Amino acid sequence: MNSNGLKSICLNNKFDHLELLVNLDEKQSVLKFESHWLRFNCQSGKSREPSTGERTIVINNVPTDLKIKSAMMENDSIRIVWDESSCQSDSLIPIEFLLNNSPSLSSIDFDKHYLTLDTIFFFDYNSFFTGDIRNEAGIFEWLKCLAEYGLCMVKNVPTKENMLRNLVEMIAPLQRTIYGEMFDVRIDVNPLNLAFSASPLEFHNDLIYYESPPGIQFLHCLKFDESVVGGETLFVDGFQIAEKFRQEHPKLFDVLTRIPASFQKTHDYMGRKIFIQHSKPHIVVNQRQKVIGVNWAPANEGPLRNSTRDEIKAYYEAYLEFNKAVYDKSNITAIRLNPGEVVCFNNRRFIHSRNGFKQPKGSRHFQGCYLTMEEFKSEVLALEYKLKNQKKDDGIDQAFDICRLKLWNFFSNY
Ligand SMILES: [Fe+2]
Repeated sequence: MNSNGLKSICLNNKFDHLELLVNLDEKQSVLKFESHWLRFNCQSGKSREPSTGERTIVINNVPTDLKIKSAMMENDSIRIVWDESSCQSDSLIPIEFLLNNSPSLSSIDFDKHYLTLDTIFFFDYNSFFTGDIRNEAGIFEWLKCLAEYGLCMVKNVPTKENMLRNLVEMIAPLQRTIYGEMFDVRIDVNPLNLAFSASPLEFHNDLIYYESPPGIQFLHCLKFDESVVGGETLFVDGFQIAEKFRQEHPKLFDVLTRIPASFQKTHDYMGRKIFIQHSKPHIVVNQRQKVIGVNWAPANEGPLRNSTRDEIKAYYEAYLEFNKAVYDKSNITAIRLNPGEVVCFNNRRFIHSRNGFKQPKGSRHFQGCYLTMEEFKSEVLALEYKLKNQKKDDGIDQAFDICRLKLWNFFSNY
């Protein structure tokens, strides 16, 4: 949202909060801001360090009983003068900031809507650069699609080993995991993981036993001979099925957001012993109950811990039912990757699996890697900022209203 659609604004000082009567896009709304919210979101140079954007308000100096003495418009901002007894310097907040961050607009009517895949979007690897020059607008379109839909494809990536690294490092450094930075998905005589065999794979998210599992996963198809039977990669939109599950089984949904499953990985790789364990619920919701993550990895589950018999009973009832939703054929998208294609997907949202395959003559070889969610989000926001701000130097204009970035607001819901 921005203030372009703002027709009029009227301030009403209620002392412990401020009311803004706004006519926004021909709609009347009353936005209410508590005094402490206003104080701590002051954007003036007295409350934020201009060069770093970090807040400098000393919390101890802000009284519990904070009263607004007066509020007035000042250009495109609102100046708030505090009651003398509070000893606070005036606060200055841009109207656009208030509109974009209004608790009345953003939190209560929480957007539970997701962009969902009706069709899979393809991007051309060759459109990401011209010679040695990055095409930032082209890269941004790709990453924005991945952020919003959670899955997309890149085609025409040369079928040479490690080309995936070239592609993904256009975004950020790869996330190193227990499998290294890059991993090969092909038949291995002593597989560390079922993925490195021809067996079918259960639906799962990768490395969910990590406290912070990989955010984005990339799989590059280097070879997939036509003679290979099976081997399709299957996807289920975890957000979509979790929302449907909430509608159909509200009590079971609640159980899967509360009772933590136990995820674990133990193996020995070239003499390095790995013992990883982390507990978390299968469905992650935010404060307003929006689904913001799924954790599904049956092959990596250990015993439930710290749960009563009643909780365990409730958990398994919900678990079995949710598994039916995961495997409901109407929810599954099957992709048979062609050589040169890379599937990119949000590992917190899409649950994936693979059909088993037979390769009497030819072979199937993918390479994969990950980005942390933090690196991914940061880079896509940086690109949006650069394109919007047309800023060519290395600095950040701290006066730039970050709420102008569409994806900033999009990610803020997570
Ligand atoms: Fe996987």
